[in-house]
Formats: sequence, structure tokens, C-alpha cells
Amino acid sequence: MYSQKVMEHFMNPKNVGEIPDADGIGIEGNPVCGDMMYLFIKVKDDRIEDIKFKTFGCAAAIAVSSILTEMVKGKSLQEALSLTKEDILREIGGLPSQKVHCSVLGIEALRKAIDDFKAKKGAK
Ligand code: FES
Repeated sequence: MYSQKVMEHFMNPKNVGEIPDADGIGIEGNPVCGDMMYLFIKVKDDRIEDIKFKTFGCAAAIAVSSILTEMVKGKSLQEALSLTKEDILREIGGLPSQKVHCSVLGIEALRKAIDDFKAKKGAK
């Protein structure tokens, strides 16, 4: 069974959408099921000023994406990078064991978005 918090974020996900002029974009696919997540970040003074996502996946993946965006919005890039799958699972009240793989998508997409930001910044 999903926790109350998973259900809330699945039914009413936060920060859904795209940022057209994003500073970094992370795209991650889940090798277990093939689901996809697109994550967009806006960075100011090394902080995540805005973040949005589009997840084509299961209820757990959507809830994890939503809660991840809430957890990292306003955080420094370093703080965001130190976030782990376990932090998200704790925050969301756990996932059924066969759905734990769904929690990886968000973390990987976030790391890729930050890498993309750093690569673009370095290229300027
Ligand atoms: Fe694919 Fe959950 S079943 S992310």
C-alpha cells in the first residue's frame, strides 16, 4: 500500500511542467520499467531557484518527482547533490518493496540536470 503522502503527491503533484529557458535539464529513464522523467532547473547564485518536472511513469514515480522538487527548491546545488534515495523514501513515508526502484528516477534526473547546468556554465 502507498502512504498517505504518496497518494497526496500523486493526486496533486507539485511543480509539474517545463521551464522553457531552463539552466539545466536532466532526462532519466528507469532501466527496470522504461519510465521516463524530465527535470528542468533554474539556478541563481548556485541555488535552485525554480524546478519543474514531467514524469511519464507510475504513481510512485510521479509522487517521488513531486516531493523531490519540493525538497530541493531553494536549496544550494551542493545540498541538492547530497540528497539520497533514502532521504526521499523517508520523506514520502516509504514505498512498497517492489516500487523502491521508482525512487531512483528523481535523484538521477536531478544529478543530470545539475551536471547539465555546470557544463553549460563552463561552456560560457
Ligand atoms: Fe516505472 Fe515506477 S514502475 S518508475
